[in-house]
Amino acid sequence: MNYGFVGTGEIAAAIVEGLSKDVDDAPSIFLSPRSRSVGQELTERFPNVQVCAGNQDVLDNATTIVLAVRPPIAQEVLTDLTFRPDHVLISALAGVRLTQLREWAAPAAEVVRTIPLPPAARRQSLTAMYPDNTAARTLFDSVGGTVVPNEEKDLEVFSAATSTFAAHLDYVSTIAAWMTDQGVEDTTATAYTAHIFGQLGQALLQHDGSLETLTGKHMTPGGINEQLLTDLRTGGVPDTVRHALDGILTRLRDQ
Ligand SMILES: NC(=O)c1ccc[n+]([C@@H]2O[C@H](COP(=O)([O-])OP(=O)(O)OC[C@H]3O[C@@H](n4cnc5c(N)ncnc54)[C@H](OP(=O)(O)O)[C@@H]3O)[C@@H](O)[C@H]2O)c1
Repeated sequence: MNYGFVGTGEIAAAIVEGLSKDVDDAPSIFLSPRSRSVGQELTERFPNVQVCAGNQDVLDNATTIVLAVRPPIAQEVLTDLTFRPDHVLISALAGVRLTQLREWAAPAAEVVRTIPLPPAARRQSLTAMYPDNTAARTLFDSVGGTVVPNEEKDLEVFSAATSTFAAHLDYVSTIAAWMTDQGVEDTTATAYTAHIFGQLGQALLQHDGSLETLTGKHMTPGGINEQLLTDLRTGGVPDTVRHALDGILTRLRDQ
């Protein structure tokens, strides 16, 4: 098995690490020459990885190609390349439609859109993809797993869900800052908050019922969790989150 990457930035590096780190029979991986520093670091760490002289060399060396450049340059990068009918193009680009990708990468027969996540580096990225595709499934199952929505337009819904990470971390950081305001040492507040939310994340991963059930388990009737939740709901926080997500979805679908 071998893979080519056109665009060797953050997300490509995460996938390459997941495919390579501590893997006995790691696939051969061919990287485009940009970004030089990322490619150099990956080749130093992993013997199965090499940097090619140009983007076309990546296509000439591999059949399954992961596209991981920024969306605005996708057309320019793809139309500059000569694809073969047996190429499988796996795009990691947010918001670039299948119809466009198929046109720009013709005559590549198989084109897939995906949403890989940085935990691919630890083989923990649940990657949404559309349409279902054997080569993409093989790649992303080996770095965490795959989920296939019913329609292409659902990918934007999944992307929108991932736009909440920074806000979620800011919520956690607000709690730590509030603890510090109350006189708790900064490092202690940060470590404590990271621990309790890290454990909550584990509980989420291990829970297989509805999220409402899990919420209920963390709430005693009349207790302090219920009080805070009620205050936030009364203050309109869930409505604000939904409204902001609607805005992200509109932005992604109008691209
Ligand atoms: N980061 C994430 O968590 C994530 C998750 C899912 C999807 N994505 C998608 O993945 C794509 C890449 O994101 P990223 O965060 O990895 O961005 P990034 O770190 O900026 O990587 C983009 C890479 O493309 C390279 N590049 C620029 N022009 C090129 C060209 N003409 N030919 C080949 N490579 C070229 C850049 O090289 P230079 O450094 O030399 O400019 C850079 O290494 C985006 O479309 C994004 O929507 C990202």
